[in-house]
Amino acid sequence: MKAEQLHGDLTRVLFTEAEIERRIAELAAQIDSDYAGKEPLLVGVLNGALMVMADFSRALASHCEMDWMAVSSYGAGTQSSGVVRILKDLSVDIKGRHVLVVEDIIDTGLTLAYLIQNLQSRGPASLEVMTMFRKPEALKGAVVPRYVGFDLPDEFVVGYGLDYAGRYRNLRDVGTLAPHIYA
Ligand code: PRP
Repeated sequence: MKAEQLHGDLTRVLFTEAEIERRIAELAAQIDSDYAGKEPLLVGVLNGALMVMADFSRALASHCEMDWMAVSSYGAGTQSSGVVRILKDLSVDIKGRHVLVVEDIIDTGLTLAYLIQNLQSRGPASLEVMTMFRKPEALKGAVVPRYVGFDLPDEFVVGYGLDYAGRYRNLRDVGTLAPHIYA
């Protein structure tokens, strides 16, 4: 789905499909270089990271493996509570592996803080984070992602894996949701 097919659901497009593709290629080149000879294990955090994992892993010129986690914050609110439940754990042992967590977005940073603590306890050789998007609040967080695609304004943003009520993940561009959609 493209932004122009949404007919007024967005107030503006922040990043086009082409801009996202270019940024993914830059990150992949950097990570190819940083992980030369290391064959990283990419850990995607479902569901939002599906798009970035698919594009980023294919933009790499070197070998990698992929695995997935699904986590959920306790509570029904729209804000992260910081208490995270693992719905699906990794299938592989990460002891001694070079692990790169792949996220779509860091908002409060609470999900990532939990994940990093949990994964670190399993004894990886290295543990870093790549996130496609970062919200302003994340800059206050304890975990600093090594690789960041784009910083976002403090707006309600959808597309490229980011959803509102389950929708818009399949939007190729990223944009700000019009208030009438969520009012
Ligand atoms: C999103 C995103 C991160 C988390 C970030 O997941 O994928 O995992 O929120 O938020 P935080 O920094 O405030 O903790 P979400 O729980 O919305 O699930 P989803 O990936 O299925 O959309």
